Amino acid sequence: MKYCFILGHNPTLSIIEILNVFLLFKVNIQIISFSEETLLLKVENKFSINTFFSRLGGSIKIGEILEETSHVLDLLEFAFKKETNEFKLTNKNRWIKLFNIQKDKKIYFGLSLYNLNAPSVLKTQNDLKKLAIKIKRKLQEQDLKVRWVISKEKNLSSVVVKKNKLIEQGGEILILTDKDKIYLGRTLMVQEFEKYNERDFNRPIRDIQKGMLPLKLAQIMLNLGQIKENQIILDPFCGSGTILQEAFLMGYKNIIGSDIDFNSIKTTKKNLEWLQKKIKNQKLKIKIFQCDARNLSQKILSNSVDAIISEPYLGPTKNIQNIDKTIQELSKLYLEGFKEFKKILKTQGVIVIIFPVFKTFKNELLFLPILNELKKQGWINNLKLPKELFQKYIIKITLRNSIIYSRPDQRVFREIFIFKKTE
Ligand SMILES: C[S@@+](CC[C@H](N)C(=O)[O-])C[C@H]1O[C@@H](n2cnc3c(N)ncnc32)[C@H](O)[C@@H]1O
Repeated sequence: MKYCFILGHNPTLSIIEILNVFLLFKVNIQIISFSEETLLLKVENKFSINTFFSRLGGSIKIGEILEETSHVLDLLEFAFKKETNEFKLTNKNRWIKLFNIQKDKKIYFGLSLYNLNAPSVLKTQNDLKKLAIKIKRKLQEQDLKVRWVISKEKNLSSVVVKKNKLIEQGGEILILTDKDKIYLGRTLMVQEFEKYNERDFNRPIRDIQKGMLPLKLAQIMLNLGQIKENQIILDPFCGSGTILQEAFLMGYKNIIGSDIDFNSIKTTKKNLEWLQKKIKNQKLKIKIFQCDARNLSQKILSNSVDAIISEPYLGPTKNIQNIDKTIQELSKLYLEGFKEFKKILKTQGVIVIIFPVFKTFKNELLFLPILNELKKQGWINNLKLPKELFQKYIIKITLRNSIIYSRPDQRVFREIFIFKKTE
């Protein structure tokens, strides 16, 4: 079966996250194609789409591919050549496959175009309109009540898909155009934006001063760790508890959080209690305590942690007076932290961690210059990718073997690393 993933704003992270979760779930896949917008895969074994997709932070939609053709033609012509055509839209089974048709209920449908490696075959809004009108007529011919959900863009947002009940009561048709193929699919799930809003904005305490990790990035980082359900996860700079909460929601059973600041510990506890009551009614077993990350081994047994997933202190977020001094101080904090991580992490353990990157007024990027020191401490930089991903410029890995996560208005970017211990 072929599936497509519609990717979030950092396609590199989105793709790596998907591949890592397939590895974790031990599902074999083959990459068929990818672009900045979409990843198309052949999935060899069965997998639970719901469990898989709901833990992803970097994918907006998942769809299944129902039809494909090797001709690059005008899709309109192609779709409506009658019975003889490979893509028999006139065939009733095709309708049923493409839409969730329920008797006597109105069908809501929409069209979304995504670029795989070729610009869309439907070049103008007008083409899209023509195609939608034809589909609408075909459905009406079968005495079905139909509404076409329109968008100004070439594809529908997950908000539009959800609000118009396109998945439950109709369908969002995905049209993916590759160099020598057109794929036709149907959306199966979209990212649950309401749930993100609820657990981001409604949690009791949001510590904006200290900087808050986006929930989706917390999910991505946990997924990059390929952590098994019963393994022990630690965030030693837990702040207001974002990583801990996402780990809990993903079903992890052994979670530990610590922070140097007593108020952060109080905040984390409050947020997690709320989460447990409001969102996931399941016993919360998270250990949280105050601790300087530079003394972790005094509180945590050596060789006991499977994964450290963390966004440490990234320095001041505004009005940085002296970047060089900040970089020096943070380098020291990180190196001292890593020394402790070395003691408490199991031999096969993993670290997924954020380093700050500072953008100067001349738009230069300044990184923490600690990679050689970390190598000396016995860490390997373990971000590994299948070779075929490097065939395209879309995958953006830095020369330091890290991935940058940023928004245009930020002065401090996030640099994401995966480390393992050398054997
Ligand atoms: C960027 S915040 C973490 C934010 C967190 N990921 C979240 O979304 O809530 C960094 C945290 O590191 C903590 N911190 C700073 N120095 C520390 C140290 N030496 N040991 C442990 N925690 C420290 C701060 O108190 C702060 O809560």
